Amino acid sequence: NYVIDHMKIVPESESRLSFNDRSYHFGDGVYEVVRIYDQTPFQLDEHWDRLFQSAKKLDMNVSFTAEELTTLTYDLIKANQVIDGALYIQVSRGATPRNHLYSREETPVVTGFTMNAPASKQEEGISAWVTDDMRWLRCDIKTVNLLGNVMAKREAADADCQEAILHREGTVTEGSSSNLFLVNNGTLYTHPATNLILNGITRQLVIQLAKHAGYSVMEEPFPKDVLDHAEEAFITSTTSEVTPITEFKGQISATMPIGPVTRHLQTLFKEAIQ
Ligand code: PDD
Repeated sequence: NYVIDHMKIVPESESRLSFNDRSYHFGDGVYEVVRIYDQTPFQLDEHWDRLFQSAKKLDMNVSFTAEELTTLTYDLIKANQVIDGALYIQVSRGATPRNHLYSREETPVVTGFTMNAPASKQEEGISAWVTDDMRWLRCDIKTVNLLGNVMAKREAADADCQEAILHREGTVTEGSSSNLFLVNNGTLYTHPATNLILNGITRQLVIQLAKHAGYSVMEEPFPKDVLDHAEEAFITSTTSEVTPITEFKGQISATMPIGPVTRHLQTLFKEAIQ
């Protein structure tokens, strides 16, 4: 099993990850998860764009290029003989003796590995746990500092739900590791791409596919009470693609069938992968 370590493909046993790594001390790093379909990474350039944006927003000095990351990705897929799966790639600010203050002299450390294809709930849908968004105010940055997300995911799982849907003082933001869409009267609703959500690559593709198919898409904040009477609801992410929600639990109790718009978008998404 091979990994990416310091911009090289090496056997996992030869990785030089340091105890001084700032992602380990402070969650001071950014990451991407890229889906691999039939040995090919999906929407790779979009993921690199967001990775560089995340790094920039955190004042990290990256010297490598998207082209170098792409070469590493294809080499790793080949080395690990991945057909269907995912790539995790992380850029930490660097390895220096523990100190809250970064100096801007750190050299970012790139690490990565491949994962098996995630289990799909796209046919049967999921239950979603509605709970408070406890995260910081820069959710637009894809940082490895994910405590608010992992706490919410555990809470959801303890209530037999597969995802947590978060709201900030009554305004619905997104899932703990996905974006949320509602459908009412043939119109899609989702939180706008502000600092309060991660602007998902899948979210952006689904918006584009929906508009192209003639649906209206409203990128507007909505209150959590709206979840009560949604006709259809679904989440999107690199790993869950377009997964229907059939039930809200927790602070909202509602059930809904998997609707025609969700099924249509699933089909359009599958076609986009081809
Ligand atoms: N998470 N919102 C949050 C908080 C996320 O963590 C993710 C993805 C998304 C969807 O983004 P995208 O469509 O670009 O995958 C939205 C990844 C899959 C993860 O952390 O595993």
